[in-house]
Amino acid sequence: MRSILIAGNWKMNLTVEEARRLALDVRQGLTNLPENIEVVVCPSFVHLSGVNFQLPSSINLGAQDVFWKSNGAYTGEISCEQLLDVGCSYVIVGHSERREYLKETDVMVSSKVLACLKHDLRPIVCVGENKEEREKKLTESKVTQQVELAFKDVKSGDIAKVDIAYEPIWAIGSGEAAEPSDAEAVVILIRQVLKGLFSEKEAEQVRILYGGSVNPQNIASFVLEKDIDGALVGGSSLKANEFVGIVKQVMKI
Ligand code: 13P
Repeated sequence: MRSILIAGNWKMNLTVEEARRLALDVRQGLTNLPENIEVVVCPSFVHLSGVNFQLPSSINLGAQDVFWKSNGAYTGEISCEQLLDVGCSYVIVGHSERREYLKETDVMVSSKVLACLKHDLRPIVCVGENKEEREKKLTESKVTQQVELAFKDVKSGDIAKVDIAYEPIWAIGSGEAAEPSDAEAVVILIRQVLKGLFSEKEAEQVRILYGGSVNPQNIASFVLEKDIDGALVGGSSLKANEFVGIVKQVMKI
């Protein structure tokens, strides 16, 4: 039985003091998490240490990106070892904003996934189609390709150590979430692709989240879908009451 994962992606937001305050408020709002719900917050790199200091052991720390090399002359990059050192156990990999603005490719995503697995850092790998691809009915082919390329070099036995987030790009920050049944269909497709790469049993162990305009009002409709195992939350994770509200809605299910 897969657990539920609710992850907050704070993106490029907040001052040190605001991040500290948000972490504290999330901590105070989520004092008794059940075992089957995991919560992660992913602040900017500069806030990781400070936020880690505020979080209880029941709430996980994640980063928003990682580089695949361990150390050396890679100006501006951050390694798995460095993320583990500041208390991260998760990292978002291949977010559509990085793919778009930083030209991150599927090959780079694959290298990052392999580095994470080598170091026991849990990647949340993002996939999803943009508006134009959706209109041209290319969602299936786009997502299939992204999943195949991200995980083709992952060893059997390792795939259960990754989480995947299906984030249709047109739904991100738009206030227009996908229809839960449409998201469910893509999540089922993702699991089918995993079954082609790994064993059925292993593919069943991978948690697949939905992301894109998730809020306390719509979270239940996604998590009630049989194959959706949680959410990657952007805007609503920046307001403690909304992020806590999302987790509490899931606790009611
Ligand atoms: P929003 O929840 O703001 O739509 O962002 C989703 C997202 O990109 C999370 O990674």
